[in-house]
Amino acid sequence: MGQSPARTCLAVVLAAGEGTRMQSSRPKVLHMLAGRSMLGHCVAAVAAAGVDRIALVVGPGRDDVAAEMQALVPHCAISVQVERRGTAHAVLAAEAAIADGYDDLLVVFADTPLVRPETFQTLRIALRDTGAAVVALGFEARDPTGYGRLLVNGTRLDAIREEKDATPDERNITLCNAGLMALDGRIALDLLRRIGTQNAQGEFYLTDVVALARSESLETAVAVAPEDEVLGVNDRVQLARAESLMQGRLREKAMRGGATLVDPSSVTLAFDTVLGRDVTIEPNVVFATGVQVADGVTIRAFSHLEGVEVGARATIGPFARLRPGSVLHEDVHVGNFVEIKASTLEAGVKANHLSYIGDASIGAKTNIGAGTITCNYNGFQKFRTQIGAGAFIGVNSALVAPVTIGDGAFIGTGSVVTEDVAADALVIARARQVEKPGWAKTFRDKNKR
Ligand code: UD1
Ligand code: CA
Repeated sequence: MGQSPARTCLAVVLAAGEGTRMQSSRPKVLHMLAGRSMLGHCVAAVAAAGVDRIALVVGPGRDDVAAEMQALVPHCAISVQVERRGTAHAVLAAEAAIADGYDDLLVVFADTPLVRPETFQTLRIALRDTGAAVVALGFEARDPTGYGRLLVNGTRLDAIREEKDATPDERNITLCNAGLMALDGRIALDLLRRIGTQNAQGEFYLTDVVALARSESLETAVAVAPEDEVLGVNDRVQLARAESLMQGRLREKAMRGGATLVDPSSVTLAFDTVLGRDVTIEPNVVFATGVQVADGVTIRAFSHLEGVEVGARATIGPFARLRPGSVLHEDVHVGNFVEIKASTLEAGVKANHLSYIGDASIGAKTNIGAGTITCNYNGFQKFRTQIGAGAFIGVNSALVAPVTIGDGAFIGTGSVVTEDVAADALVIARARQVEKPGWAKTFRDKNKR
């Protein structure tokens, strides 16, 4: 990612807010965007900006947030802000990590999940190039209500004024504080420790670091980001807005990478969706996490995919459901109302209508007839179905696992297959047809009054 400045960097991620407006038993920063928690997005962006270490600040009792963080970044520093006394106080909860000594200190909010790695790098580059003690991230607010205002003087930042402390004139300023900033790591601790609580809320404001730096004739600067990128999520309306912005980015990336999205706004992507070139996605397709789609694939309307690899030129749907642990090789056809779970379909397999394929391996070019069901579960355990290459499974067959069907075998329509089938054999596992001539007429006549 670009040429990142050759300076060491610590990112302190603040996540100790209460998040009450989410009205949720789940911590705010663990709410999901495009299949990944807000914390996950934030951490991925700072990591991509080339930071050397990440320190997380959580509220008391937030073991769930700490556990998610440990899963994302093993060996990160996690500290608890016991009392919620303001953003500077929160940063100081990570004092030990800061004291380890880094050139750059990035302060980021875990509930501001759309900030791009390039923006974090811009802050760091500004720090290096201006020699500033503090570089704040600003944005032009459509409605500045509630935000801190940036009081700029030329290229310099004199102060950040919180809304509650601002004069009427200052409130007219629309250049606002996004909240995140970069500080000179060598003097940050000293500045942060001297921030007081002389303000309308009696809190330790991180924003006060700017005026403090200026009072000591240290340089300060501002970098500006688009408002959409610094959207903070406090409630579910903002979460939905962030999701929609994130989806917009993912769709654009997919299209620029060579996928056709017929109706982009109706396609839901995950943060990790991989689409090849000349992939066509029809309307109303949902990609949950872990999907990789090779070149030339067509995914027709109303399909749902999760945890699956789709090979080149395959066609999926409409109305298909591909579930985790599945691998579909080249030229596979999966049609309407077919569900596939934890199964491998070799090249050229066709399962075009109304089937459940679970815990199965299916050899190349085998045809799965309409209504075929793998009976993989006895209420307690799951069993596998193995079908060879070039087999033909007749319509409405029930394959009772564990069962193996050999290469080239032919299963008669409506069979309930409970035993293994040899290669190239025909199996008919259904009652033989019985015909009783005239029976129906006799029956009717007998019941006539
Ligand atoms: C903050 C900024 C404001 C900026 C706004 C952008 C300060 C003093 N103000 O205000 O200038 O315009 O963000 O959204 O910094 N947090 C803690 N512990 C605390 C307090 C906050 O961890 O004691 C975390 C929160 O989880 C959140 C972030 O810090 O991620 C910002 O806190 P919040 O209370 O939302 O700050 P604002 O008042 O919105
Ligand atoms: Ca906020």
